[in-house]
Parts: sequence; structure tokens; C-alpha cells
Amino acid sequence: MTGLDAVGSPVELRRRMVDAVLADEFVAEWRAAVLPWRPALLAVSRHEFLPGTVWVENDDGASPAFVPLHREQDPGRWLRLAYAADDGVATQVDDGRPTGPGVGGSLPSSSASGPIIVAVMLAALDAHDGHRVLEVGTGTGYNAALLAHRLGARQVTSIEVDPVIATHARKALSDAGLGAVTVVTGDGALGYPPGAPYDRLIVTAACNQVPYAWVEQTRPGGRIVVPWADTYAGGLLVLTVAEDGTASGRIVAESNFMWLREQRETRGAVKPTMSNGVGDPERVEERVTTLHPSHVTRPHGARVAIGQRVPGCQWRYYPWEPDDPVGVLWLVDPWGSWAKLTHTSPDADEDEFPVLQSGPRRLWDEVEAACRWWLEAGSPGADRWLFTVTPEGQRVELTDVPSVAAGAPTRDG
Ligand SMILES: C[S@@+](CC[C@H](N)C(=O)[O-])C[C@H]1O[C@@H](n2cnc3c(N)ncnc32)[C@H](O)[C@@H]1O
Repeated sequence: MTGLDAVGSPVELRRRMVDAVLADEFVAEWRAAVLPWRPALLAVSRHEFLPGTVWVENDDGASPAFVPLHREQDPGRWLRLAYAADDGVATQVDDGRPTGPGVGGSLPSSSASGPIIVAVMLAALDAHDGHRVLEVGTGTGYNAALLAHRLGARQVTSIEVDPVIATHARKALSDAGLGAVTVVTGDGALGYPPGAPYDRLIVTAACNQVPYAWVEQTRPGGRIVVPWADTYAGGLLVLTVAEDGTASGRIVAESNFMWLREQRETRGAVKPTMSNGVGDPERVEERVTTLHPSHVTRPHGARVAIGQRVPGCQWRYYPWEPDDPVGVLWLVDPWGSWAKLTHTSPDADEDEFPVLQSGPRRLWDEVEAACRWWLEAGSPGADRWLFTVTPEGQRVELTDVPSVAAGAPTRDG
């Protein structure tokens, strides 16, 4: 038996992938809305949308962060990656110009998103026969293929900013018999007016400010599904377009996507390392806190609230061992502020934790205050934030109760 035989045929792998998607905890509340996508998920050969070279995390956790995996080098691993239900596959790093040492890369800039989040996004899209859909962020073309399988290739337009990636997707779609999908090379933040109005618009890259062009190009009653994010949290935002040309909606699930190119976050200037010697020790302030780091990094609602109140703050958590609830929390911002909290006990309430802070802001103080505000407000979930997009811009406000059942399918098809 060859290594590939042991992995299984693509058809078998696809069946297992779909079973795993439908059995997943995160998918549970979306299951009924995912089921109509099952035939497409079973039919579309995901591996045929991947390039021969994909990028995997460097095993030893060292620099470069990502290294290439060529299909011919390990066909079994490559195929397994193609059908892993919960993981995305990085298909490009550093905008196609790897900047890591050697042939390594530092930041994925295109990927085939993980099948689980793909399925949840399609469920949230609530697309029906006859709908016309614009996808922003074609990537491999796999998601466009799923849309085309369900709705018909002519109903689907997809826009990709990177010409090399767009060309690859066009060919993969055509090879799959779905060449009637319109793949446009361009800036998806502008939408694609020639195909408007769309019934549904789905974005597969993270966005902080929803461009009004997307609202303008979606018909009243239409839906926009977009992985919204700020530097602290991310959530799948479902907006409904109103007759007055505004759109509003809420976060319906947690999400974590690479950024739309022009909205890419500026990475924190202080490189988070385990070393103590960051910044000028003379200017490092020490304090203690009783707030356990898990309070500011685990509940999704807390992270969304902190993101709203502490602009520009990013966090990274480094456990001593994988899955170890003991480690170091770094907070950084792009303007040179950082904070480092170390905890050597997993107990949430008993300890005082040492904090070091430096730079123009006191990031731990800000994050702690935001978290205490969130706790005092009754720990509102992420779906309590109402997003409204108008020609003037985007508003995000905390409301008492979600005004619409978040993510409930509409009957407007
Ligand atoms: C997570 S990948 C998309 C996954 C894709 N839907 C799939 O099925 O493979 C995000 C993609 O968005 C693209 N992108 C980033 N900014 C963009 C923009 N302004 N307009 C269009 N595409 C953009 C990236 O080049 C990348 O290919």
C-alpha cells in the first residue's frame, strides 16, 4: 500500500470532511442551514482548487513562520491538508513575495478557508435558487465553486485583488466545469458594479470598516456576510440591506480571517517574544493585577467589547506548553506600547499576576478597565453590538437585546 492509498481517495476524504463538518460543535446551531450545501461540499473536489505548493506552519515554531509544502514532496500530507475539516490551507504568503528567511514566509496572504467556517458562512448567507451572489476574495475559487454548484455558475461573480491568484482560480473553476463563474481581478472593496444589484454578497477576508459600495450593490432585503474584525477580536457579521440604503446587523459567530489587503492591521511594533528585554528597562512600569488573563482573551463577548474600547490593541498568548493554561499574555499596539502579563498558576481568581508595561499607553490598564466595564455591563455577548452601515460610515453600538434573531434564515428568497 502506498502512502497515498493509506490517506484514502479524494471522494472518501471528501465524505469524511463533510461528516466532520456536520458533526462539528461550532456548526451545530447552523446544521439545518448547512445541509442544503451538503451536495456541493460532496461534489466539489477541494484539492483541485489548491496550488501544488501550499504553506504550512514551521514545525519547530521558529522563523520563518511558514514553509512551503510541495505536492510531490509529500502527496499524502498535501491531500490530507486539502480535506481537513477545521483548518484553512495557506496558498500564498507575503503577497506572493515570501519575506521570511530562506524560502519561508511570514504572513499568509491567501488561503482556502477551513471547510467548517466556509460551511457556516454559506449557511449564514441564506442563498436561494435564482439568487445572484458577489464573492469578495476569490482565493482558490473553492467557495465560488460551492456557490456555483448550488446556484448555477452564471449566478456567481467573484473578485480577487491578486492577478496570479485570480488566474489560478479561473482555471480551476473552468477545469471543474464551472467556467461560467465570472472571476474579476480587482479591488473587491469597491464591489463590482457591472453585476449589481446582488441578492447576496459574501466576503472571505476580514474587514473592519464595511465599504458602503457593498451596501449600494446589494438589493434591499439582500444580505451581506462578512468576517468583521478589529485588532482584538473577529466575528462573522450578517447585515441586511434596508429600503433606505443602509444596512444593519450583528455578529453571529466567531471568525478569524486574513485581512482585506487595504484594511490589513498594522502589526504591533514590539515583537512579542518570551524574552524580558523588550524596550528600555528604565521605562518599564511594574504592577500587579487580580484579573486572570483568560478573562480578557477567552469570552468572545469580552474580546469584542475590549476591541471597541481599546483601539489598536493586539494580543498574543503563549502557553508554556501547548494547551497549558499557564503562560504569558502580550499586549502590543502599533505605536510602540506593550504590556506583558505572566501567570504561573491556572487558577482564575486566587492569584495576583505581575504586569510589565511600557510605551506611550498603559495597555494592560486599558484592557483591564475595558474588561471590568464588560463584566459590570452583565457580560454582553458579541451579538449585542449592532452594526449599521450608511453612506456616512459605520456605527457600532451596544444594544439591550439583539433586535433580530442573529443568523435566522430569512424567507425573502
Ligand atoms: C481567505 S482567502 C479567500 C478564500 C477563498 N474564498 C477560497 O475559497 O479559497 C482571502 C482572499 O482575499 C483576497 N483579497 C484581499 N484583499 C482583497 C481585496 N481588496 N479585493 C479582492 N480580494 C482581496 C486575498 O488575495 C485572498 O486571496
